[in-house]
Amino acid sequence: MKRIAVMTSGGDAAGMNPALRAVVRSAIDAGVEIFGIRRGFAGLCEGDFVEMSAHSVSGILQRGGTILRTFRHPQFDRREVRDAAAEVFHRAGFDGLIIIGGDGSFRGGHCIDAEWNVPVIGVPGTIDNDIPGTDYSIGYDTALNIAVDAVDKIRDTATSHGRIFVVEVMGRNSGMLAVATGLCCGAEEVLVPEAPFDYDEIVRDIEQGYNRGKQHAIIIVAEGATSAHTATEQIRTRTTKEVRMVVLGHIQRGGDPSAFDRILATRLGHAAVERLLDGARGVMVGLKANEVTLTPLKKDRNKARQAVEYMLGLHHCTR
Ligand code: F6P
Repeated sequence: MKRIAVMTSGGDAAGMNPALRAVVRSAIDAGVEIFGIRRGFAGLCEGDFVEMSAHSVSGILQRGGTILRTFRHPQFDRREVRDAAAEVFHRAGFDGLIIIGGDGSFRGGHCIDAEWNVPVIGVPGTIDNDIPGTDYSIGYDTALNIAVDAVDKIRDTATSHGRIFVVEVMGRNSGMLAVATGLCCGAEEVLVPEAPFDYDEIVRDIEQGYNRGKQHAIIIVAEGATSAHTATEQIRTRTTKEVRMVVLGHIQRGGDPSAFDRILATRLGHAAVERLLDGARGVMVGLKANEVTLTPLKKDRNKARQAVEYMLGLHHCTR
């Protein structure tokens, strides 16, 4: 392999920059030309490519976001869009592609690998930590720490006023970030898309907590389960306690990557180049039990659900 490309795609995640840095420098170290594709699949379709040097990734190890920028490009699901992009890609003479992103991006990567006969390696980068084949995705640790820090602060004011707080965290398709936040903060309740919930039961549990002497109640809601607004309205009709809500939103996606994410990103970015040059293709590099592993880009989504269910069980037993 003489010339490869790398892109970041889907929702950005703190740690994408260090992953990019590791990919670029590892490729150069191996004597391979490396190009960045700007704005994910949109830039791929438009031929928005830039040659990367060791210097072009200087000073980004500690920076959030992604210097290549990113984009959601659902048009790539269409075969005719992919066929046109294939021509642009082949014209640039790339022998392989590394995609730093989430499951949606890997679906596109799987199509490229299969339809264009181009080896593709995925690097898991999403705050959702919902990708089977890795214990952690890049950006999750940073986002989790942001959410935990916010809820710890909310707890102070909740206790002072004796209030119930509903806190909405990100996760359209996955409750992992929500349940991990709940676990870290000792939240009274966690609502996730993977499990049913009942407002009567939730309020009964909370009232019992107050009767035992609790001074507050924190309910963490994954955005994919329901909105904080709806949960707050439902709870208000069932209790005389004061209820307030906070939506953490995109704050969870920004900020400097944690030390954990910097190391994870560097390990996986380096492994992606190494494995691509070794002949691997159609796979994602991940970290399982502290070992770098490979999993097919096309995966069984059930595993992600089971991981959330396990965490939910842990939260129920320890809250
Ligand atoms: O996939 C990461 C994520 O942050 C999800 O948690 C969230 O549901 C989604 O992206 C939000 O995407 P956007 O920034 O495009 O609204």
